[in-house]
Amino acid sequence: MKLADARAALREARHVAVLTGAGVSAESGIPTFRDAQTGHWARFRPEDLASPGAYFRDPALVWEWYAGRYRDVTRAQPNGGHALLTQLEREKGDGFFLATQNVDGLHTRAGSGAAGGQLVELHGNLTTARCEVCDWTADLPAPDHFTPPPSCPDCGGRMRPNVVWFGEDLPETALAAAATAFAGADVALIIGTSGVVYPAAGLAAEALRRGAVAIEVNPVETNISWQMTFAVRDVASRGLAALLGQEP
Ligand code: OAD
Repeated sequence: MKLADARAALREARHVAVLTGAGVSAESGIPTFRDAQTGHWARFRPEDLASPGAYFRDPALVWEWYAGRYRDVTRAQPNGGHALLTQLEREKGDGFFLATQNVDGLHTRAGSGAAGGQLVELHGNLTTARCEVCDWTADLPAPDHFTPPPSCPDCGGRMRPNVVWFGEDLPETALAAAATAFAGADVALIIGTSGVVYPAAGLAAEALRRGAVAIEVNPVETNISWQMTFAVRDVASRGLAALLGQEP
């Protein structure tokens, strides 16, 4: 398949299912998940911080890390890639589905999920916390007024970051919606993900099995590149612009 064919497939598709990963937020200045360990945090592996075991052992340490990421995310702005996905959603309406593994909330801030289609956050959202006792979910206070851990506004219990950690199940409803959308997609777009974390990484395979065209946007080859019908080897904003026929 050539770029012109990929463009045509996307233009003509009634149902488009998109999976995004940390690469989509890289142009907003948020390091990708596997690059995020810098400075003080360089001695920790993501698995050592983003896991129920780590939180059980040292909740203050895990909260400190998430509070730092929350501050960074609040300062960041959605980029051109986020905006083009919102534009595609406007074009496809309820035929558009976006499943993100990102917990930074930037898709929502760019308008995704409110332009006629659907957005699901498969790994949660680090701008919110969830009560360990009663499951109540609440937005975190503004970073300047936030001292972790937050207390539940409903029952007073300790709250944890509202994200999916290694070894935890994904939210059932969100995952089921994503599986349905990818199974029914004409085109699956896989953008800025290394494709190493399942079940999200398996969504493209499901779309392909049902006859969809799968297009990857990523500057480098990934674990799941071999499955793709076509790949745009570029950053998310330029890769999407090329696919939507919007190069400068
Ligand atoms: P990774 O950090 O594993 O991968 C980021 C991908 O983005 C890589 O393939 C990069 O090549 C690509 N990339 C970098 N810059 C890009 C750009 N400007 N445009 C497009 N692509 C770019 O992040 P994820 O695949 O999202 O899970 O990681 C998946 C999950 O693993 C995360 O959600 C997290 C993590 O462990 C949990 O926390 C449960």
